Amino acid sequence: MLDKNSSLVPEQEIPVVRVKDKRFRVFIPYEDIQERIRIMAAAMTREYEGKKPIFLSVLTGSFMFAADLMKHINIDCEIAFTRLSSYSGTSTTGKVEMIMDFKEEIKGRHVVILEDIVDSGTTLSRFLPTLEEHRPASIAIASLLIKPEALKYPLDVPYVGFRISNEFIIGYGLDYDGAGRNLKDIYQVVVE
Ligand code: IMP
Ligand code: MG
Repeated sequence: MLDKNSSLVPEQEIPVVRVKDKRFRVFIPYEDIQERIRIMAAAMTREYEGKKPIFLSVLTGSFMFAADLMKHINIDCEIAFTRLSSYSGTSTTGKVEMIMDFKEEIKGRHVVILEDIVDSGTTLSRFLPTLEEHRPASIAIASLLIKPEALKYPLDVPYVGFRISNEFIIGYGLDYDGAGRNLKDIYQVVVE
């Protein structure tokens, strides 16, 4: 069940949800997400065999992606969590704040950052230098989604689930003002 501001209504066969003041239409169904995740996991399993990688999930958005991906990583590995924010209050600080630091020792380890979406690339491009200070053996980024048209910083993202257009999406961990993270599918905003 969604909150009291939301309702599930069928519109031309494609489910639409209302979240707060906006409507969203199913964009990537759950089954398609799972299929892509299995392919991504297979590639990572091949690449990191024998390297005991540490997967670093960037909260909150990547929690569903991380959970589903990890089920298909069939090698010795670990998972850690961090929480980042590029904002302080309502204004941009120009820095990424680590609201929740990871506790694991990553020196000499192979790190795979798990992100829900790379939009402008600001968050990760500012976080990478901080991570590098810990002297990991390698760093790679895996993002379920990427909006290539919105990218402002050159970021190497070797593992991408879906390349999507520059429209706002929610669901499968992604939120609109705190709401919609629990939706099973990925939804795109209906421009009205
Ligand atoms: P970036 O720093 O501009 O790359 O933005 C990264 C973060 O912004 C993501 O981890 C998301 O939390 C959030 N974000 C970017 N685009 C969307 C979207 O379409 N829906 C929901 N959250 C988004
Ligand atoms: Mg995020």
